[in-house]
Order: sequence, then C-alpha cells, then structure tokens
Amino acid sequence: MIIMSSVICDTPTLAERYDKVSNSQFEHGKLLAEELKIKKGDCILDVGCGTGRLAEYISEIIGNKGRIYSIDPAEYRIQVAQKKIKDKNLPNISFEVGSGEDLSNFADNSFDTVIMNVVFGWITDKKTTLAEVYRVLKPDGLMGITTSSKGLPGPLMVITDELLKREPYASEVGSNMDSGKSITTDRLLQLLIDAGFSDINLKLRRTSIHYRNSSDLIEFTEASHFGNYLDHVPLYLRDAYRSEYITELEKRQTAKGIESVWNMLHVITRKPAEDAY
Ligand SMILES: C[S@@+](CC[C@H](N)C(=O)[O-])C[C@H]1O[C@@H](n2cnc3c(N)ncnc32)[C@H](O)[C@@H]1O
Repeated sequence: MIIMSSVICDTPTLAERYDKVSNSQFEHGKLLAEELKIKKGDCILDVGCGTGRLAEYISEIIGNKGRIYSIDPAEYRIQVAQKKIKDKNLPNISFEVGSGEDLSNFADNSFDTVIMNVVFGWITDKKTTLAEVYRVLKPDGLMGITTSSKGLPGPLMVITDELLKREPYASEVGSNMDSGKSITTDRLLQLLIDAGFSDINLKLRRTSIHYRNSSDLIEFTEASHFGNYLDHVPLYLRDAYRSEYITELEKRQTAKGIESVWNMLHVITRKPAEDAY
C-alpha cells in the first residue's frame, strides 16, 4: 500500500521543470554520496528519488556489478526519470512509484546504503519510514539523509516566517506551520535513536545559490514543492501573500541576483552490525 502524501498536486510540467532547476538538491546529493563512500558493486536504495538525477549519478559510481533501486510517490517524476534513462542502456538502475513508508517490495537486510536526499521533511510518517529503512538495510549498512534545518532557517525561510506574523496571515495560518519542510536537529536525532540507528554523524552544510530574479526563484520553489507551494496559505489569501512575498524578495535583488542560502543537515548513520533484524 502506498501512503499518499501531497504528491497528488504534482503536474508533468512541474516534474520536467524540477529536472532542470534542481541543481542545489543535486549538489547536496553528490556530497552525500561522497560522505557515504558509495563504491563499485554496492546495492543502493534511493527513497524519494524525484526525477532521478542523483540515482543516475550513483549508477555510474557503482558500475555494472552494483544496483540502484529508486522510488518516489510522484508518478510524473518517475516518468521523467524513466524516460531519461530509456535510451542510455543503464541495466543497474530502476525507477518505480513507491513511498518511504512502504518498502515491502524489498527484502530484509538487502541494501548496503539507503539514501534520502532532500526528502525527509516531506515524508508524512517518518517513524514508519525509518523502521522500513532499518529493516531493508544490511547489518552495518549506512543511511544518508539531507534535510533542511528548522533551527537555522536560511534568509528566504525567514521571509516566510516574518510574513506569517503579519495580518491576515497570522490569524489565518498561525506561526507553527512548516512551509520549509524542515526538522530540528533534536527531533531528527531522537527519531534516528528510536529507530535503532547508531554512529550518528551529523553535519551542517551551508550552501548559497543566486537566482536571476524573483520569477526564477519562485519557479524553482514551485517545482521543488511538487504542486504544494503556498499550501500553508488558504486559497483566498494566496494571491495577496504571493505578491507580498515577491516584494520582499525584490528588496534582496542585487547585481548578482537574489541569494538563496540553504542550511542543510547531512546525516550519515549505521544499522548496528550485530542486529540481523
Ligand atoms: C525536493 S524533492 C527531492 C528529490 C530527489 N531526492 C533529489 O535529490 O532531487 C522531494 C521528493 O520527495 C518525494 N516524496 C514526498 N513524499 C514522500 C514519501 N512519503 N516517500 C518518499 N518520497 C516522498 C517527492 O515526491 C519529491 O520527489
């Protein structure tokens, strides 16, 4: 059974666009692959693979003796990924619709590494997902996660927080919602410990990217949110909110463009060797 999250709002256009504009996510994914020391012959699971850019990159590292299984609940993103690799003759990679909460297609103790790049914040049932990842990892296998840090929002997330303190949003939305799909370090660590993971290695990586203007930045955000951009704001307030957000973005326009800073948590953790689940 696939537990549907907000992916039903995705469209083919947003999926195609994500493939082109997701350079920030891709760069974090490449660093994560390096931190995980992925090597030739490894068997990898990519949970929330999106349009498959990182999976394709990893498929080259693991070579013909390796194998990468890639799943995502967003059907259109999987279609983009499948289309891209169709003519490339890459027998060590597969893309299927699926979610982190249900890895029942995969046997216990079967992966060297499970990777979740900029996905964790979007997962509805994080506990079930971590239990499933733990089950399918080989003893001593590694899980790698990148996810936005809630305690250290980048300047653009601060705009959102500030806007939501203004009326009418303060009364209508409240300040506790999480538009950035981020998680605090404490909460993340507690979830990992509760799931049984050990040797938790957590790093904060700060990256910066400039977008030409507010339209480019919003286009990127819409594609990254797979149709859920502004889902925290009631429909009747979205146009007003969007135009106030654009005004705030334009105040930050410089000759180089508008800077977007990401404070990204990179986590590498291990399923203990002695636990054969
Ligand atoms: C920002 S994208 C990251 C995609 C990809 N990992 C990358 O590096 O570009 C977040 C992805 O999480 C997926 N997602 C949402 N809910 C999920 C769930 N419950 N299980 C697995 N993936 C999920 C979305 O469909 C989306 O493709």
